[in-house]
Amino acid sequence: MKAEVNQETCIGCGLCAEICPAVFVMTDNNVAETIVDVVPADQEAAAGDACSSCPVEAITLTE
Ligand code: F3S
Repeated sequence: MKAEVNQETCIGCGLCAEICPAVFVMTDNNVAETIVDVVPADQEAAAGDACSSCPVEAITLTE
């Protein structure tokens, strides 16, 4: 699974980085970015939670 953040859409709420810090971190510009190319298998559930928790649907997960 791959995760992507649309930084044009992200409003910097920080939920994704809180829920799944192994994949998402906040940048100095207060938007989220991914720190891994491929989501580790044991992080897929958390990444899914982060994706569905994002208030502006800025996160895309692809297989
Ligand atoms: Fe941004 Fe959504 Fe994460 S608004 S900080 S991508 S939960």
